[in-house]
Amino acid sequence: MIALSSIALKVDSLRKEFGGLVAVRNVTFEVEEGEFVGLIGPNGCGKSTTFNCISGLLDQTSGSVEMFGQDVSGLRPDQIQNLGMTRTFQHTNLWRQMTVIENLLVPPRNQFGTSFRELLQSLFIPYGKSEEDRLTRAFEVLDQLEVPHMANNLTSELSGGQSKLVDIGRSMMGDPRLLLLDEPVAGVAGPLAMKIFNNLRRIVDETGISILIIEHNMDFILRQGVDRIIVMNEGQVLMQGSPDEVRSNREVIEAYLGAAGDHRGEEE
Ligand SMILES: Nc1ncnc2c1ncn2[C@@H]1O[C@H](COP(=O)(O)OP(=O)(O)O)[C@@H](O)[C@H]1O
Ligand SMILES: [Mg+2]
Repeated sequence: MIALSSIALKVDSLRKEFGGLVAVRNVTFEVEEGEFVGLIGPNGCGKSTTFNCISGLLDQTSGSVEMFGQDVSGLRPDQIQNLGMTRTFQHTNLWRQMTVIENLLVPPRNQFGTSFRELLQSLFIPYGKSEEDRLTRAFEVLDQLEVPHMANNLTSELSGGQSKLVDIGRSMMGDPRLLLLDEPVAGVAGPLAMKIFNNLRRIVDETGISILIIEHNMDFILRQGVDRIIVMNEGQVLMQGSPDEVRSNREVIEAYLGAAGDHRGEEE
């Protein structure tokens, strides 16, 4: 077992401005190895921008990001990916004319765009695994997500929730040590959303990887077995703690739980 004290991700005083807009004002938090952490907060509070800075898609205005003890500021997205980090995006983009298994076999291109040219480019990125190993890994990932029966389905035939699962599966193909998932269950029906969280919990427990997961529904994440929740508001960390601590924090309750909030399944 990995020592509990090792830090997978350390974000310190992160700030990101877009012209006059301060999207991320001052964000500091850590994710330990083997930890399953939720990042929540209202729309527009800077969650995805934080992910974009961590994964090297955006250069932060100031502050620092360390991954497994290494400063990743200034590294390209593919260099950061090589350190063992993979991420998904809020809007899932699968290769629609391919089957589920084919989508998994395309080398991880999570840090890339979705044009056909970029798909071709990504095929030439060394993957570090033989084709046979990749196929074995792809079926292992589908097993871990409990959807081996979907292997030969065309992704264009999948529901929104199933597509999200395939997207998560794709991000797991490269054996990441740190997985950043941006609203992987937004718009996914409750039972499937819970199943996805259960599977992620089990993957964390069985493999010791770290998962940081963005979710915007407070009521929902409080019940999903994450170790810790980081609550953001207006570009800052409002509080962080165990689900119980977050539940009993009055400031958070007033900001989120008191509000009507949004309801799963309505969007996208
Ligand atoms: N590339 C960008 N250019 C300009 N403004 C952006 C960009 N990305 C995000 N923003 C703005 O930054 C703020 C935070 O956005 P975002 O990080 O996407 O929030 P969240 O993921 O928490 O909903 C929003 O006001 C959003 O409009
Ligand atoms: Mg977002």
